[in-house]
Amino acid sequence: MKSALATRLFERLRSRQATVGVVGLGYVGLPLAVEFAHGGLTAVGIDLDARKVAAVGRGESYIPDVPSSDVAPLVSAGRLRATTDFAVVRELDTVNICVPTPLRKTKDPDMSYIVSAVEAIAEYLHPGMLIVLESTTYPGTTEEVVQPLLERGGLKAGRDFFLAFSPERVDPGNGTYTTRNVPKVVGGMTPDCAELAGELYLSAVETVVPVSSPRVAEMVKLLENTFRAVNIGLVNEIALMCDKLGIDVWEVIDAAKTKPFGFMPFYPGPGLGGHCIPIDPFYLSWKAKQNGFEARFIELAGQVNGSMPHFVVDKIGEALNGARKSINGSRVLVVGIAYKRDIDDIRESPALDVMAVLHEKGARVSYSDPFVPTLSARGWPGGYELHSTPLDPSTLASFDCVAILTDHRSVDYKIIVSAAPLIVDTRNTIKNSHPHVFRLGAPRPAGADVLEIADGVPAGTTY
Ligand SMILES: NC(=O)c1ccc[n+]([C@@H]2O[C@H](COP(=O)([O-])OP(=O)(O)OC[C@H]3O[C@@H](n4cnc5c(N)ncnc54)[C@H](O)[C@@H]3O)[C@@H](O)[C@H]2O)c1
Repeated sequence: MKSALATRLFERLRSRQATVGVVGLGYVGLPLAVEFAHGGLTAVGIDLDARKVAAVGRGESYIPDVPSSDVAPLVSAGRLRATTDFAVVRELDTVNICVPTPLRKTKDPDMSYIVSAVEAIAEYLHPGMLIVLESTTYPGTTEEVVQPLLERGGLKAGRDFFLAFSPERVDPGNGTYTTRNVPKVVGGMTPDCAELAGELYLSAVETVVPVSSPRVAEMVKLLENTFRAVNIGLVNEIALMCDKLGIDVWEVIDAAKTKPFGFMPFYPGPGLGGHCIPIDPFYLSWKAKQNGFEARFIELAGQVNGSMPHFVVDKIGEALNGARKSINGSRVLVVGIAYKRDIDDIRESPALDVMAVLHEKGARVSYSDPFVPTLSARGWPGGYELHSTPLDPSTLASFDCVAILTDHRSVDYKIIVSAAPLIVDTRNTIKNSHPHVFRLGAPRPAGADVLEIADGVPAGTTY
């Protein structure tokens, strides 16, 4: 039996009369606010970044997966707006919190964004509201951190207002799975909390998966991301082994994935990137440690994945060595600095680590990335601004080595193969064997030992 407050909010959500808030209009928050508005609710975004708020006000999107043509009509129709002022919470029926959850340098969770957002919401919290935390975090956050801050004003969670956790599963750049068609796991503090959060999401997503508590929902997200981090760590270690054994790891994976059950392919690369996989498992290991438990798989995967940028630099050194050159003084072009294919996000990108180590060793580092026109002086440890280098034959020929770190689909790899003197390919982008192409996790290229690379590529090289 729902309480009167719960029944009222339920009806407002079901009849689409509710006004819903989203705090943090980034990669997660903006698509969610847009889907709420598409679902017939009135959505209000709250962000401290005045530029994002102004962009929404103009009907413009700054997130590649959300076209401006989706935002503009919703803004004109009054279904979507944004503000920097938390006072708007007074008018809201619900608030979803989608603020960052980074790690401190010590690899401890940085809860400051959640705490500051929740404190700002608490000032305007009113009876009958639903608050849902979406930021990825350690199990227990909703009840141990968010609930006490919201209850400071005297309202009680589960009785006067409703509280839930629902992890975000957005996969930037994935055209098949979007906010709407990825099932949403929801854990409420009480049955009313769960039902209301489920009803809110059914306006924006096709499937809601209820679980018994916020703590379970928090753990679901960390299992998903730890699963990826550990499997990527495993395949990276297999790649390091294959490299030593002279076996092509890419061929091994391609053959292994023909097994129709019990195997799922993961691929090696220059290391982990993005705001989730390199970070979230450490939220879990931190919490486990607080309770006297050592999360060994997470730590080990972190070590293997964290060593990959150094391995890539070693590979570049090996390739240059064959051409009687050293990293020190060589011109190295890094192709692809976003953390994954076809997106513009460079957060935690392993390419930045590779560039940093190359720079430290005295290389003259440049980059090319169609999604990242400029890399600010503060954006990488080199300490000076870089601009994306055009990939034309004469520019490519002027580098000593080209390292492919992210395999954006729009890059012309044929030009790279035919014009770059030496290539280190960490993504298996270049399929055919060439004496000047060194692949991560694969045997040394045939003919590399006799390669004379004085002026560009050996004659007769084809892609
Ligand atoms: N990006 C992803 O692919 C992804 C996927 C799943 C889960 N997540 C999780 O979702 C959460 C948000 O990630 P994101 O990628 O959208 O981050 P983001 O950096 O793109 O966006 C966060 C937004 O929050 C705003 N913000 C910060 N503090 C604020 C405050 N106190 N009040 C109002 N706004 C504030 C920032 O200005 C920014 O616009 C994180 O916990 C992340 O781990 C992200």
